[in-house]
Amino acid sequence: MIRPATVHDVPRIAAIINSHAELGRMLFKSYAQLYEDLRDFAVCQIEEQVAGCAALSVIWADLAEVRSLAVDGKFQGRGIGKQLVGWAIEEARRLQIRRIMSLTYEQPFFEKCGFAVVPKESLPLKVWSDCVRCPKKDGCDEIAMVRTLEDLPIIEAPNAPPTPRGVSIPVLDDIED
Ligand SMILES: CC(C)(COP(=O)(O)OP(=O)(O)OC[C@H]1O[C@@H](n2cnc3c(N)ncnc32)[C@H](O)[C@@H]1OP(=O)(O)O)[C@@H](O)C(=O)NCCC(=O)NCCS
Repeated sequence: MIRPATVHDVPRIAAIINSHAELGRMLFKSYAQLYEDLRDFAVCQIEEQVAGCAALSVIWADLAEVRSLAVDGKFQGRGIGKQLVGWAIEEARRLQIRRIMSLTYEQPFFEKCGFAVVPKESLPLKVWSDCVRCPKKDGCDEIAMVRTLEDLPIIEAPNAPPTPRGVSIPVLDDIED
């Protein structure tokens, strides 16, 4: 069962995410960050246990990001990750957001979920706000992937400020020069 997360889920969400973060697969999340972003989160509950989580974060009028997608090791390979991405897609559709993106090391998984690789520079600058907290900020090796909900109308909205070139913190420093 996929359902919106509540405060009761936060310790379990933190444990799942941070078990993968320890292996360098994703960013660590503190309780403070999880409480702040709780309304973005859904969990997959199997019987009494939370088996995985995902968040959908709104970036712009035409872009939302799947974040913090994580499935407990003992529940992997049972379709839970795909169901959580399905939830994120339906949430984007509910919000009428046409493109969903992910920064990931899991290219084959996201391809199975209908995402395609895009150049990082095609994403707006705002996407890189988490880079300051990332140990790999100077050498980002994540893959940018996007799925477009072609059936949703293209929205008339101001363009998000673009990513000038590359995504690392030194590049962000360059912008200030
Ligand atoms: C990536 C992750 C979310 C996948 O969750 P999961 O529940 O194990 O994946 P699913 O069982 O839903 O897999 C869906 C499909 O993707 C495929 N798949 C999953 N992981 C894959 C991998 N690493 N390589 C190739 N295919 C993969 C499955 O075989 C399945 O294919 P099918 O639809 O043809 O049967 C999970 O492995 C995870 O939590 N990884 C660590 C954290 C992480 O990397 N999160 C992503 C951050 S963006």
